[in-house]
Amino acid sequence: MKKIIPYSITFIFLAAACFVIAPAFSRALDDAPKKELPKQVTLAKDSQSDKYGEVAFNHETHSMKNYSVDGKAPIACVECHHTDQPAAALKPPLKTSERKVALTADALKAPDAVGVKSCRACHLQTGDDSKDLPSVTYEGKSTPTKLNNENAYHLNCNTCHDAAIKARPDLKGKIPGTNDCAKCHKPLE
Ligand code: HEC
Ligand code: HEC
Ligand code: HEC
Ligand code: HEC
Repeated sequence: MKKIIPYSITFIFLAAACFVIAPAFSRALDDAPKKELPKQVTLAKDSQSDKYGEVAFNHETHSMKNYSVDGKAPIACVECHHTDQPAAALKPPLKTSERKVALTADALKAPDAVGVKSCRACHLQTGDDSKDLPSVTYEGKSTPTKLNNENAYHLNCNTCHDAAIKARPDLKGKIPGTNDCAKCHKPLE
């Protein structure tokens, strides 16, 4: 019996270490830039809201099919991945550039290609103070808008959807507009 005790203590210690290290490690892997285009993405998995949960996002259709406002062309990668274009191509209020050549699906196939960062790498969730939040002072506002994940994704997704519904009224009810919270977010209890 005496010999079992040290083993079990070691085991408990190792098991505890795994619980501490594994989540930190998988988070770090999640944050690493990626070269694979995702097909279907589940956003807001870790929502802090008690009402608005996961959001399904079809990356394949949004990056390949004619999903522009007028429905006539695909959306350019850089319309969403806005830091992945050369500085000269940026339109205000954008000013941050991290790529010399605009991101395309083909550009990611090169062996020395640099991967794409998730939006959350910069647009942090409320409570995460590991970096300064990006912010923009919009026309007519006296204070800057802090672009946490909620504001950044909402601006990106909703500005386009609202414009598409306005341009093509047949999309009304088929795609989520700004106030169709429950058409994007799964309800949480
Ligand atoms: C077009 C789809 C869409 C619509 C419509 C939408 N949201 Fe969101 N919402 C998102 C996405 C995407 C995120 C960020 C996900 C992430 O960080 O992974 C988000 C984030 C949030 C968050 C922050 C979650 C967290 O803790 O990280 C809240 C709260 C929220 N939304 C509430 C709402 C409310 C309230 C409405 C309606 C007025 C709404 N949303 C409409 C897609 C949507
Ligand atoms: C409509 C907006 C939109 C368009 C257009 C778009 N993406 Fe994305 N992309 C996203 C979102 C949102 C994510 C998920 C990021 C996250 O988890 O925060 C993503 C994720 C990615 C990822 C994985 C990044 C990671 O770290 O998880 C790659 C690679 C990528 N996109 C490449 C592309 C390429 C190449 C194009 C153009 C062919 C493109 N995207 C077009 C919105 C878009
Ligand atoms: C490398 C950091 C970084 C990444 C990655 C990033 N952003 Fe941003 N974002 C910023 C900064 C910084 C700003 C403020 C403007 C500027 O400096 O370009 C900004 C501004 C914005 C704005 C406001 C622009 C406007 O016209 O009102 C939106 C919306 C936005 N980001 C959405 C996204 C989405 C969606 C993704 C992922 C597909 C993403 N961002 C990825 C750093 C980033
Ligand atoms: C630049 C435009 C644009 C942006 C940005 C955009 N979408 Fe869309 N989205 C569309 C269009 C257009 C459709 C409808 C396409 C159709 O049915 O013809 C659509 C459809 C959808 C649908 C309905 C199901 C589907 O996949 O067709 C969902 C859900 C959706 N978008 C979620 C999102 C989320 C979440 C974001 C932000 C992360 C986002 N979209 C960003 C243009 C956009």
